[in-house]
Amino acid sequence: ALLNTHISGDQVIVVSNREPYIHERTADGVIVKRPASGLVTAVEPVMRACSGTWVAHGSGSADRDVVDAHDRLPVPPGQDDYWLRRIWLTAEEEQGYYYGFANEGMWPLCHVAHVRPVFRESDWEAYKAVNQRFADAVVAEARSEDPLVLVQDYHFALLPAMVREKLPQATILTFWHIPWPNPESFGICPWRKEILDGMLGSTILGFHTRYHCKNFIETVDRYLEARIEHEHSTIAFREKETLVESYPISIEWPQEEAMRNWPSVEACRQRVTERLGLPQDLCLAVGVDRFDYTKGILERLNAVERLLEKWPQWIGRFVFVQVAAPTRSALEEYRSFQERIERVTARINERFSRPGYQPVHLLAAHHEPDAVNELFRAADMCVVTSLHDGMNLVSKEFVAARDDLQGVLILSRFAGAARELAEALIVNPYHVEETADALHRAASMPAAEQRERMASLRSTVRESNVFRWAGRMLLDAGRWRLRARIEARVR
Ligand code: G6P
Repeated sequence: ALLNTHISGDQVIVVSNREPYIHERTADGVIVKRPASGLVTAVEPVMRACSGTWVAHGSGSADRDVVDAHDRLPVPPGQDDYWLRRIWLTAEEEQGYYYGFANEGMWPLCHVAHVRPVFRESDWEAYKAVNQRFADAVVAEARSEDPLVLVQDYHFALLPAMVREKLPQATILTFWHIPWPNPESFGICPWRKEILDGMLGSTILGFHTRYHCKNFIETVDRYLEARIEHEHSTIAFREKETLVESYPISIEWPQEEAMRNWPSVEACRQRVTERLGLPQDLCLAVGVDRFDYTKGILERLNAVERLLEKWPQWIGRFVFVQVAAPTRSALEEYRSFQERIERVTARINERFSRPGYQPVHLLAAHHEPDAVNELFRAADMCVVTSLHDGMNLVSKEFVAARDDLQGVLILSRFAGAARELAEALIVNPYHVEETADALHRAASMPAAEQRERMASLRSTVRESNVFRWAGRMLLDAGRWRLRARIEARVR
C-alpha cells in the first residue's frame, strides 16, 4: 500500500540483466526456476506489489526462438502480477557484455577482491550495444513521457543517459547493487568518464551505504567537470541534477501464514541430517553463496580447518555445509576458483574425517528457496564471510528463517549488512584466527544469548524490509518530481 501511494498510477519499468523467472524446457515440458541473485530476491517482491514491466536478459532454454520485439510473459507463473519482457542476446553479445565487460571488468573493479579486472575493447563495444538494446526496449515499453524506470546494477551503467536522451521527463532510479570503489581504484577503467556520464543520466543514484555514495561522489569529482553539492548529496552535470543517496536493500519479511506452514525446526534438522548422512548430536554450520571469489569461501574453509586444529573437541561434532551455486562458469576465473575450493575441501576432509564423520560437505549445486530455508532452519549457525559485498542478503534470509530465535550469524565486516546487523558475530574474514574463534564462540553460545541476539536481528530485518527500501527511493523520487514541476512553473 505504501509503495502504491508513492507510485500513484505511474508506470513502473524495471531493467536488470538477470530475470526473476527462468523458463527451462525439459522432457516433461517447461519448468520455472528462481535464480540465485540477491538483486532478484530483493526487487521481485517490489514488482509483485506495484506491477508494471520487468525488462531482462532471457536466460532459459524455453522460448529461445521467440526473438520478436514483443516477447512478453505474465509472471509469477499462475499469478500474473506483472510483465516480463525478455531480451534475447546473441552468444557474442552475451560474451562481450555479460561475461566480458560486466563480469571480468566491472565486477572485480568494484569489489576490489584482488582479482584483476580485464578490459577489452571488444567487450566494451558489446556492453555499449547491449545497453542501447535494453534502453530501446525501455523506451518502447513506455506508455507516457515520464515513466518511472528502475535500473538495476553494474550491467547498465550507460543505460540511464540513453533512456534520458529519448525520454527527458522520465524518472530514472538507478540502484547499484555492488560496492563502489575509491577514485584511484575506479580510475584504472579505460572508460571511466563514459561510465560516470551514463550513470548521471539517473534522477536518483542509489547505493547500499553512505561509504559507497561518498566514493562515487569523489570519483565524479576526480574525473568529470561536474558541480557537486556535498550538503545535498547532489551532482549537477549536463544541466541536470542527480541525487546520490544510500538505500540499504533488504528482503521481503515472510508472511505470517507462510511462516505457519514452514516445517518445524526439528523436522528441518532431521531432514537435512538424514539427507547428508550426518551424526545427530552435532553442531551444524552452513554457508549459502554463489560460487564466487568475492564470497570468502576459501577463507571460511581455512577458518573451519583452524577451528578443528585449535579445538580438537569439535572433531566429530562440528560439520560445515557449504551450498555453492555454480555461477558465470564460462569464465576461467570462476572455474579455477571452484576447483580450488574443491581441492581445499578434500584436503580438510582428508585431515579430519573419521569413520562416519566428514567435517565439510560441499554442495556445488543451485538450491531453490525452500531448500535454502530448510537448511537455514536446520543450522546452528550461518557463516557469511564475503571479502567485499554490497549488502549480502543471505545474512538477512537466515535471520528471517529463524522464528525459533535460535542460530548464530557470523558476518563479515566487509558486507554492507554488517552496518545493520550489529548483533551478529562480526569478523574480518582475512583474519583466520579471528574467524575460527568466532566459529568456536558461535558453537558454544548459550541458547539465551542466541535468543537475545536473534530477536534483535529479527526486529531490524522485519522493520528495514525491502518495501521500506523501495518506498524510500520512491518517496525521494516523488519529492524530486514535485520540486522539478514547481521550479518549471516558476521559471
Ligand atoms: C550479484 C549482482 C546481481 C546478479 C547476482 C547473480 O548479486 O549484483 O546483479 O544478478 O549477483 O549473478 P548472475 O551473474 O548470475 O546474475
